[in-house]
Formats: sequence, structure tokens, C-alpha cells
Amino acid sequence: MATTVIILAAGQGKRMRSAHPKVLQPLGGEPLLAHVLAAARALRPRELRVVHGHGGEAVQAAFAGQPVAWFHQAEQRGTGHAVRQGLPGLPADDVALILYGDVPLIRAETLRRLVARARRGELALLTAEFADPKGYGRILRGERGRITGIVEEKDATPDQRRLREGNTGLLACPASHLARWIRRLKANNAQGEYYLTDIVGLAAKEGVPVAGILAPDVEEVFGVNDRRQLAEAERILQRRRAGELLDAGVTLADPGHLIVRGRVRCGRDVFIDAGVILEGDVTLGDGVRIGPWSLVRDATLGAGTVVHSHSVIEAGRIGEGCEIGPYARVRPDVELADGAKLGNFVEIKKSVIGRGSKVNHLTYIGDATIGAAVNVGAGTITCNYDGANKHRTVIGDGAFIGSGVELVAPVEIGAGATIGAGSTITKAAPAGALTVARARQATIPGWQRPVKAKKGAGH
Ligand code: UD1
Ligand code: CA
Repeated sequence: MATTVIILAAGQGKRMRSAHPKVLQPLGGEPLLAHVLAAARALRPRELRVVHGHGGEAVQAAFAGQPVAWFHQAEQRGTGHAVRQGLPGLPADDVALILYGDVPLIRAETLRRLVARARRGELALLTAEFADPKGYGRILRGERGRITGIVEEKDATPDQRRLREGNTGLLACPASHLARWIRRLKANNAQGEYYLTDIVGLAAKEGVPVAGILAPDVEEVFGVNDRRQLAEAERILQRRRAGELLDAGVTLADPGHLIVRGRVRCGRDVFIDAGVILEGDVTLGDGVRIGPWSLVRDATLGAGTVVHSHSVIEAGRIGEGCEIGPYARVRPDVELADGAKLGNFVEIKKSVIGRGSKVNHLTYIGDATIGAAVNVGAGTITCNYDGANKHRTVIGDGAFIGSGVELVAPVEIGAGATIGAGSTITKAAPAGALTVARARQATIPGWQRPVKAKKGAGH
């Protein structure tokens, strides 16, 4: 039996006070809806349907190219009405799984349990024991704990409001039942809406078994309506991700102060200090250490590499046993061979640094190819931009660049060349030789410092 997933995502999310649709608000670096889609995709459904409304074009654009079928709900007339928009062409022998675009922390394992019950012909509801069920529909149970209905808080009696088992809204059932029940919904309630939850009463009347599946933890069904809840969801997600890294054998100096906005793969004995942010696709080899308050994005760091505090890696392939920072900035398209070193206040962009080469202090390297065992002195700058075009600098193996050198690209420094400190290099410097390009030092004999003119004297 194939599964069709219908994700309700038409709500405006007024309480976010945002110009953007709620389901595009970022959680762990990705839109809320992306998390729901990922959980749904893990079930390998026949089709993923999203019912969108407010800001629909922006929502569709954010997921362009992904296998999602879009259904528009022009007016928000309730969850039952929203599901109806997603029904056209739904194969009768599918199982339908209803998810919410703003319940992003749901796990695929829990959804599988719902789908399994629906495959047996049941209506499976995901419920949860809330410490404070405020705002949720309450699950009504009759004799032998059988579910007889769901009452919305606004329609509930004081006794019903005291029930702590709440409706998460997520459910699964045979598609044929769903289509029939949805057609029968009426909007005769406190909010004048078509309540999806009324299908429970219809199922009970028809004798279709209603199964309540209790969510393993409340965090999974946490809904995001405002910025406070978005922040809370972020904390839950980050705690989960930190837990996964700890389980995988990573040492975290403070799991509460690590942010992961992407996918991280780690070797053995990796150490991550407090305040680190990992983004995009990050791979950390065995024994890698990331110092405090560093950002690492879309990068591969080889075994034994150390990133010292306050460094920013915006993308790069870093070899084994490299050292970066503190206070270094690695911009995109950078490759460091094994054992290379970038020290403090070094910025590097679109460059290759050879094995064991050192760029240790206050330097800008852009559009350069640097060989092995090169030493770049403090304050060296590649002048790669002429105001219109970028040009390359090539430095051969074993070259020694003195401090404060300006390399005006395009320019080439031969292998084993030495460049005198303070040189402005505009032409190729030959291999194995000392090249100096600076004014000679002179001492002017008898020179006197000017003295301040006396007030009133002269002029
Ligand atoms: C719904 C349930 C309630 C449950 C709660 C859990 C109903 C009648 N009530 O309440 O029992 O405890 O969820 O959070 O189903 N949506 C649309 N179109 C609409 C209305 C809603 O797409 O016309 C989407 C929203 O974007 C959201 C989801 O459906 O993702 C839930 O809508 P919401 O208005 O938050 O439902 P509640 O009334 O809070
Ligand atoms: Ca809600």
C-alpha cells in the first residue's frame, strides 16, 4: 500500500510578525517546511503534497526542483478544508498521512507507526500528553479507552479542558475513508471552520477503529506559531544534533553552545569547543580540534587539523595536520595541502597553499597558487585586483617572501626565490635568487629637524 503525504502549510502565521510565510522561517538553517518534507521523504511516499496559501509563490520557489505537488488553498477555512484542497487525484487504495508544515521536529519512526495502523484500515491519530494542553484539541475517550472524538479547546466544556491528552493534528488513514469523511464535514462550530478533527466522530459512527498513538516525547510534536516557539524549537533541534555528535564519539566542550546548520560528519576523537557554528556540509577528520567561537561552513578538514579560536572558514578543502587561526578567514575556493599553516589575521581566497607552507601573520592571499614549504612573511599582500580584473600570483616551492611584500599580480616568484622585506614586486622574480624592490636606505648628513616658529616673530 503506497502512502501519499499531505502537508498543511497554508496558514499565514500572523504571530510571527514577519513579511515571510511561516513555513519558510529558518530552523537549524533550513525552512520549517524542509524539516517536515525530510521526515516525510524518509517514508518513501508515492507522492508528497503540500497545501499552500499565504505567500505561496515564495514557498514554491524555495522548494523549486524538488518532487513536491502543490495545492492551493485560497482562503483558510480550517484544517478540514485545507485537506480537501489536497485530495484531487488521490488514489483510493493509498494511505493518506496528514502532517503540518509548522510541526517540524516530528521523527520518521513515529510517522511509520501511524502509517502501519492506517494500513490495517484504521484511523491513526498522533496524540501527546501535554503538561499544559492549552490551545490543543482534547482527545475524548469512552469505554475501554476507545477514542470517541476530539473537541477543540474553544468548543470544550470545563471538564474536557482538564484532559491532558491533546491532539497533535498529525494522522493517517486509508485515503478512500479520508475523501468520504472530508466531503461530509460541516462548519457548525465556534470558529465556523471545517475541522479535520470531526472525521474522528465520523469514523466512530461507521465503526472504523480509531487508534491513538502517543508521541514518544512532546518535543516531537512541538508546534511553531511565534518567535518564542521558533527559538524553543531551535533549542530542541540543536540539543538533538549535539546529542547525535556525542553519540558518534565527538567531544563537545559545551553541547548547549554548539550550533549545527547542516550536515556534519566526524571522525574519531574530534573536539569542538564552545560557541562553534557548523554550516552546510562539514567533514571533520580524526582528531580535528575546532577552537571556541569559530565558524566552519562547507569544508573538509583532514585528520589532526586544528582551527584556533575566532576563525571563519567559509568553504575549503583543508588537508591533514593543518593549523588555522586564531582570527583567520578562509574564503571560498581554498585548498590547503597537508601541514599548511594560516596564522592570525590572515585572509585567504581562491588559492592553493602547498604542503607545509606557512602564512602566519596579517596577510592577504587572493587568487594565488603557492607551492610547498613556502614562507610568507608578515603583512604580505597579493595585489590581485586592478580595479577591473583579478590576476593570479604564483609562488614556487621553497620560496621565502619577506615581511611587508606587495605582490602585484599577475606575477610569478620562482622556486627557492627570496624576496626582500618591503618589496613591491611587479615582475617575475627568478628562482633561487634574492630579489629586492624597494628604495635604498639613505642617511642625510647634517640634516636638522624643523623647529616651531616663535609667536609674534616674522610674518
Ligand atoms: C489544530 C487541530 C487541533 C490540534 C492542533 C495542533 C483542528 C480543527 N484542530 O488546531 O485539534 O490540537 O491543530 O496544533 O484541526 N492550516 C491550513 N489551512 C487552514 C487552516 C490550517 O493549511 O485553513 C494549516 C496551518 O498552516 C497549520 C495546520 O494547518 O500548519 C494547523 O492549523 P492551526 O490553525 O494551527 O490549527 P489549530 O486550530 O490550532
Ligand atoms: Ca495551531
